[in-house]
Amino acid sequence: MTPDLGGSRQGVDPALLQRAERRFAEEFGAPRPRLAVAPGRVNLIGEHTDYNDGFVLPMAIGRCTALAYRPRADRRLRAHAVAFRETRELDLADLAPPGGSDWLSYVAGVAWALTEEGLEFPGLDVVVDGDVPIGAGLSSSASLELAAARAFAAAGGLPWDAVRMAKLGQKAENRYVGMNCGLMDQFACAVSREGCALLLDCRSLAVEPVPVPPGATVVVMDTGARRALAGSAYNDRRAACEAAVEGLKALDPGIRALRDVSAELLQRAAPTLDPMVRKRALHVVPENLRPREMAAALSAGDLGRAGRLMNDSHASLRDLYEVSCPELDLLTDLARAQPGCYGARMTGAGFGGCAVALVQEGDVAAFGAAVLAAYRAQVDLKAGWFACRPMAGARLLD
Ligand code: GLA
Repeated sequence: MTPDLGGSRQGVDPALLQRAERRFAEEFGAPRPRLAVAPGRVNLIGEHTDYNDGFVLPMAIGRCTALAYRPRADRRLRAHAVAFRETRELDLADLAPPGGSDWLSYVAGVAWALTEEGLEFPGLDVVVDGDVPIGAGLSSSASLELAAARAFAAAGGLPWDAVRMAKLGQKAENRYVGMNCGLMDQFACAVSREGCALLLDCRSLAVEPVPVPPGATVVVMDTGARRALAGSAYNDRRAACEAAVEGLKALDPGIRALRDVSAELLQRAAPTLDPMVRKRALHVVPENLRPREMAAALSAGDLGRAGRLMNDSHASLRDLYEVSCPELDLLTDLARAQPGCYGARMTGAGFGGCAVALVQEGDVAAFGAAVLAAYRAQVDLKAGWFACRPMAGARLLD
C-alpha cells in the first residue's frame, strides 16, 4: 500500500493535461482541478489465458486516460467526456447493477464497486479525457476505471492498494458493465512500471517486471476495425473454456482451470471433447506457456525467439481460438514482411482493434510507415501505429 501522493508526469502528453484542465474550467469553473491518470496497455503475449487462471505479459503504453477532478461536498457525480462532448450527472447513492456499457458506466461502476467494499468517498466534478484509442483493444475502459478509482480514492482519503483497486475495476466491469473480462487489463493499468512489461500469474497474482531489451521496440498497429459483437463472442469463448474444464475433470478431478491442463492430458482427452471446445482448449494450453517463454527470451535478449512466439500465438488465435479478423491477419502479415520485424500478433480480445510487433530499434519509423502504406492500399479504414514507451500505472499527478 502506498500513500496517496502525487506521481510523475513522465510519459504523459502535456497537451492532453492542459486540454483536460481547460475543459474542466469551462465546464465546472474555478478552483483548479487535480489530475489522475492511468495508462492503456498492450498485451505482448498470453491471450485469452487470464480467465483460465494462466499467465499474461502485458505492458503499459505511453498513452493514458486523464481525469481532471474536484471533490464535491455531496455525493453527486457530474462528468464530462471530451471524446463524446457530453456531460452527465448521477447520484452515487443510487447505483445498482446492471448499469450500461457507455463511458459513464465505467466511472459509475467503479464507484459502485468501492461502495460495495464499504469504502466511503464524496462525489466529484470530473472531466474525462485521454489519448488511448477507444475500443481498439488497448484497454481504454480499464484505464478509465483505474483513473476513476484513483480520483475517488484520493477524494475520500483512501489508501491506494494497486492490486485491490485492479480487482475492484474488474468487479465493476464484470458486474456493473456486464463484460465478463479477466484481470489482466485492470492489473496492467494499475500496477505497470515505466519501461517494463509485467509477467503476471493470474492465479497467484505473482508479478515479475520484464524489461524490453535494448535494440527492440514494441510497436502497436491499429487496424481501424471495430467489432460491435465482440462482447458476446468473448463470453462464448469463456464458456467454451469452462466446458473444457468440466470435460477434463473426468480424467483428473484436480483440474480447476485450463491452466492446470498439460498438453499430454489434453491430447489424451481430445476425442471425448466437443470439437469446438477442443479447438478452444488447444489454443489456451500452449498459449499459457508462451508468456514465461517470451519473458525468458526477452531477458536473454533472444529477440528472434520472442518474435517467433508472437507469430505462433497469432496463428493459434486465428485458427484455433478464432478471434482474429481479416484486417488483423493482413496487418500482421504485412508487419512480418518488413525488414527488422521479429514477430507480430493480434493483441487484446480480438475481432478487430490492434496488433503488436517487436521491431529492431533503428527500423521503427520506416517499419511503421511501410506497414501503414501497404495496409491502406488494401483497406479503407482509419489505421495508425505508434511505438510504445511504457509509463507507470495509475497515479495522481503533482
Ligand atoms: C480483454 C479482457 C482481458 C483478456 C483479453 C484477452 O482484453 O478484458 O481480461 O481476457 O481480452 O486476452
